[in-house]
Amino acid sequence: MDFNKTTVKSLEGEYFFNTYNRNPEANILIEKGEGCWVWDDAGQKYLDFVSGLGVNSLGHCYPAVVKALKEQAERLLHTSNLYYTEPQVELAAYLVENSFGQRVFLGNSGAEANEAALKLARKFSQQEHGHHKHKVITAGRSFHGRTMATMAATAQNRYHQGFQPLLSGFNYASFNSIGSFEQLVDEETCAIMIEPVQGEAGVYPAAPDFLQQLRDLCDRRGLLLIFDEVQCGMGRTGHLWAYENYGVEPDIMTAAKALGGGLPIGAMIARDDLASGLGPGDHASTFGGNPLVCRGAIAVMQTMLQDGFLEEVVRKAGILRGYLEDFQREYYSFIKEVRGIGMMQALEFSEPCVSQVRKNCQEKGLLINTVGENIIRFLPPLIIGEQELEYFYSLFRNSLEKL
Ligand SMILES: Cc1ncc(COP(=O)(O)O)c(C=O)c1O
Repeated sequence: MDFNKTTVKSLEGEYFFNTYNRNPEANILIEKGEGCWVWDDAGQKYLDFVSGLGVNSLGHCYPAVVKALKEQAERLLHTSNLYYTEPQVELAAYLVENSFGQRVFLGNSGAEANEAALKLARKFSQQEHGHHKHKVITAGRSFHGRTMATMAATAQNRYHQGFQPLLSGFNYASFNSIGSFEQLVDEETCAIMIEPVQGEAGVYPAAPDFLQQLRDLCDRRGLLLIFDEVQCGMGRTGHLWAYENYGVEPDIMTAAKALGGGLPIGAMIARDDLASGLGPGDHASTFGGNPLVCRGAIAVMQTMLQDGFLEEVVRKAGILRGYLEDFQREYYSFIKEVRGIGMMQALEFSEPCVSQVRKNCQEKGLLINTVGENIIRFLPPLIIGEQELEYFYSLFRNSLEKL
């Protein structure tokens, strides 16, 4: 069959569950990616500020990742977790040596990493303090995934509709309000789970003291603190981990998206003393720690840990932020707020215009992501160059002018 945009769209309509809200105007079939750019089937080139929603942090087909994958693909694609493999432990060592944690579990996605974190929190707390310990407090507007447990952890009604009864044991407090978390802690609470920067909701960073307040609360009440760094981790904020911006360490952390450089992976990282929480048979994943995927992730980590890599992210994020602030100054009446950390930024508009801005951008060759009717979320590849940022500036400005 001859695949083109029209046939793919029609086959998708025929064979796929209609779960993906593809941008109505998007209507593009992406065929190829290189660096910060993607090409559609008509050869049209786009600057990719969506980056697979935070996955393509090293851009598309980053050479070191591709090389690592090619080499591994010729040696071993998969084996059962009944046996040892080298890439798995090498990746775990990278994660441990470059984070607060000492123990790693590997899965295939953000939701799966969060599932592991929730299971560990419950099991460890029940072992230590008794079977009543099961509740987890999460923050309003959070997003932790689409599985039954992570959906229940996600404090947004719209994701729950039609799937009730939800897994019990989740309470929702207000983001950045320590009082609302304090009020919800009771004898059954075992953990607090939070995104240091809420991504899906439209890029809301935790207030400077908030994570420390949560840390103190957890220490006082014997709770585990879980940071969901699925989106904000892996260099996105200019540090390897978002928690480093706040100087506050969790007990358990999850990472995914950018970790695999485009391959599906999720990791749960925890303190050593929690290791007894999950023993043989308590948790597993057939593909978790797959050698091919781990090789890709090792290449990503090696790249991000190179001298100067993260400093460059901070420098270029400063340029991006400056541009966004320029837009706000210029279009003051309808850009309400610029917010974010590092290469995770958002513009909030006072009017519901973002789908039109997205459409204008795409026509000019720039892919951006919108949240709801008023927010644009910017997640460019961390490797973006100054010229590409300038190109973004002129295309985006043009798209605003066209409004
Ligand atoms: C903070 C956060 N946690 C969890 C997830 C779920 O990740 P996945 O889609 O890989 O299951 C996401 C996805 O956007 C996320 O942003």
